Amino acid sequence: MQHFARLFRSSLGKKYIMAVTGVILLLFVIGHLIGNLQIFAHPDVINAYAHFLQNMGAGLWAVRLILLLTVVAHIWAAIALTIENKRARPEIYRQDDTIQATYASRTMRISGFIVLAFLIFHLAHYTVQVVDTDYRDMYTTLEDGTEVHDVHAMMVKGFQSVWISLFYLVGVGLLSWHLRHGFASMFQSIGLRNARIAVPLDKISIGLAVLYFLGNATIPVAVLAGWVA
Ligand code: HEM
Repeated sequence: MQHFARLFRSSLGKKYIMAVTGVILLLFVIGHLIGNLQIFAHPDVINAYAHFLQNMGAGLWAVRLILLLTVVAHIWAAIALTIENKRARPEIYRQDDTIQATYASRTMRISGFIVLAFLIFHLAHYTVQVVDTDYRDMYTTLEDGTEVHDVHAMMVKGFQSVWISLFYLVGVGLLSWHLRHGFASMFQSIGLRNARIAVPLDKISIGLAVLYFLGNATIPVAVLAGWVA
């Protein structure tokens, strides 16, 4: 137990926390994207899916709690590591690679905070529905007669606003950028990055980020173009 506590106080322990929480969040955002892409099927598909999730009861709250703790741990470890790095190397950096590493970690922090701001807006928008309270009165009936929240119509109404769509594009764009660097640096943190896999790993992380961005971007773009109504 003491050994465990010591590991988490160390820089290495915090890097492991960043990596593990990063993987959990990555799996969540990919799963969420796959769920959202159902908007391209018949409206009943995504509405039935959202109805199922909303009726998971305690299971839904357990998932929400795990996600919240994961986000908090990810941010805490990032802040703690930044403070430790600054304390360890307060001098002005001269070497180019150090400057580049500092630049990458600074932009990771900035993109991370903007993604957090995006997430808060997103929850207010589609989960708590305070940005447009009309969403709360949108209901529809599935083929089997079940009355459900019309999440399909809510998403269409939301993305018909050019400003909201642009905000989502910027939010998921920065998240994709964050994932691209986070994914590659995770391998470095846990000591799995070496010269042999550095190039393929970089290509995989760029491919993952581009696919993730395009997958998300198709949703507001398709609504604005009138392909989904
Ligand atoms: C184009 C991109 C996205 C779309 C269209 C979208 C859509 C939605 C919708 C419609 C809901 C509410 C579902 C319901 O009413 O049951 C939702 C919830 C949520 N979204 Fe997204 N989302 C997007 C991107 C993201 C991103 C990038 C993140 C994370 C950074 C995220 C995290 C969440 C979370 C945590 C919830 C709340 C789940 C809950 O506890 O009820 N979403 N999203």
